[in-house]
This record gives sequence, C-alpha cells and structure tokens, in this order.
Amino acid sequence: MNTFVTLSTRQRMPVIGLGTWKSTSGQVKQAVHTALECGYRHFDCAAAYENEKEVGEALALWVGPGKALQREEVFVTSKLWNTKHDPQDVEEACRTSLADLGLSYLDLYLMHWPIAFQRGKELMPRKEDGSICYSDTHYRDTWTAMESLVDRGLVKAIGLSNFNARQTDDIISMARHKPIVNQVECHPYLSQADLLSHCRSVGVCVTAYSPLGSGDRPWASANEPSLLADPRLGAIAQRYKKTPAQVILRWHIQRGVVCIPKSVTPSRIQQNLNVFDFSLSEEDTKSIESFYHNKRFIAPTVERESVERC
Ligand code: A2P
Repeated sequence: MNTFVTLSTRQRMPVIGLGTWKSTSGQVKQAVHTALECGYRHFDCAAAYENEKEVGEALALWVGPGKALQREEVFVTSKLWNTKHDPQDVEEACRTSLADLGLSYLDLYLMHWPIAFQRGKELMPRKEDGSICYSDTHYRDTWTAMESLVDRGLVKAIGLSNFNARQTDDIISMARHKPIVNQVECHPYLSQADLLSHCRSVGVCVTAYSPLGSGDRPWASANEPSLLADPRLGAIAQRYKKTPAQVILRWHIQRGVVCIPKSVTPSRIQQNLNVFDFSLSEEDTKSIESFYHNKRFIAPTVERESVERC
C-alpha cells in the first residue's frame, strides 16, 4: 500500500520511494527486489551512486511485457551528475542512465546539484591540491538541455535537487518545462520549513533525501546527534506503537513531503512502507517540528556561487 502525490504534470508519484544512495553493489539489487515485493513502486536513483546497473537488474526481473508490473506502474527517478552539465553532455548522460537502468524513459530526471564540475569521466575531478575542478557552465544552460530530453520523450519530467529558493525561482523564470520537484536534504533536524512553503507556493513538490537523518553517511562522526536515537522521538514512537523511523516518515508525509528512505535491510524496507495505518496528532507533529536545529548532515560540495576553471 502506498499513496501518491499528483505532480504539476499530472504524474502520480508514490509518497514513499526506495532511496539507493549508499546502497553498495551486491546489496542494491536485493534491496530493490525486496522493495518491489513489499509494494514499493518508486525508486530514486542517480548516476553518481554508481549502482544503476544493479538497480536495473532488479527492475528487469519485475517490470516489462510479460512481467509482474507494467512500466507505467513504477516511478523511476535518476539524476544528472555535476560533470555532465555542459549542454553537449546532457543527452548522453541521460541515455547512459537509461541503458544502465534498462528503461526506455525516466519518470523524472533531476539536476543533482546547481553547480558544474569540469567535464569528464571522473565523478569528482580534482586539482593536484585536492580541490574540486569546477566549470563555469550555468545551471540555466543545463536546464535548457534537459528540456530537450522531455521533448525527445527520454524523460517524462525534469526537476531540481539541492536548489535553494532563489535558484528554484531562477529556473522557473526561464523554463519552458517547469521543474516539478526539488529534492533536498530534509528531516526533523533540518525541517526546511521556508523552502517547503516557497516550493509549495510555486507548484514544486519537495522530496526529502536522507529523510531519516542519514545515519550511514560515510563522514558521520560519533559526537554528532543521531536522529533515529533521539529520545523525544522514541517516546512518541512508543505511544503510537511504531518505530522512530515510521514516525519520521509519517511526519514527512503529513507535511506533504515525499520521502525516499534508504535501506538494504528487508525488515526495514518493509517497515518503512508501513506508515499508512496511523496519523500523528497535531501536537506530536509540532513537537517533532521543534527538534529543528538546522543540522545539515550532507554538506554541499560547493559553498560559493562563483566558480573557477581548472
Ligand atoms: P540499512 O540500510 O542498513 O537498513 P536515510 O534514508 O536518511 O539516508 O537513512 C538511511 C540509514 O537509515 C541507513 O543506515 C539505513 O540502514 C537506516 N534505516 C533505514 N530504515 C530504517 C529503519 N526503519 N529503522 C532503523 N534504521 C533504518
């Protein structure tokens, strides 16, 4: 059982999807398979996760003519990586994701970050001193190239990721195909209330990545707060006879945010979809909102607007 949001293109996107960032090769195929078995119909992918081939292997077992599911029954998102922002690289990057995922179209293709890196095969091109090599390709030019993917039928819709309100407006002001989604880090420690209300006012749906606080981020340190272990959350979860993860996911859904919890553990994959049989009271929703302390776990790669060439 899953429920949907209807996007500005009239597409229906399930409010819970399976996140695949940090799911390693050897794990992700089974995770996608388990998720499909449990009823997930929304998969969040990206070229930069370097596991789309394996996601595609699992999808191929389930989706297509003669299989359990028709292509239209699943919603698949992928993302254009920062080294592919040059307009001449956009279509090839999209076609690579399509080939890896074994699909003829994507439901949604996002610009992964509003900043471009130097073109090439390396995910994180670096100078000798270790700093990133940027490119001066502007995200507006990248957007125009992404619009052509819609025209060519390679993707049903396009959207943004990690864009702030000003950058989102900037795209909307010049777009022929409007962004339908902005996918950003969002959880009770970074509730994104202002961005959420802004996106809502301009018809852009917000998807939360790291909706559970991304406890398995590679750079997590022991002295950082752990959202899932927050005793305030534990107390709420106990009252509803749900787990802390289920309470967080329910909180996202009740504020109109789509979530893509990542898990490679079958019982958790199942548990994370089992959030439609209870509702949080207004008081508990407000209490979770008050956890907010502006804790960003996923530090942006780039913290400045100006870019330099290598
Ligand atoms: P695992 O993949 O080992 O099951 P986020 O989606 O915020 O990035 O969080 C992902 C992290 O949360 C992973 O470490 C994942 O573990 C863990 N996780 C996912 N679902 C649950 C759950 N229901 N209960 C506890 N931890 C979970």
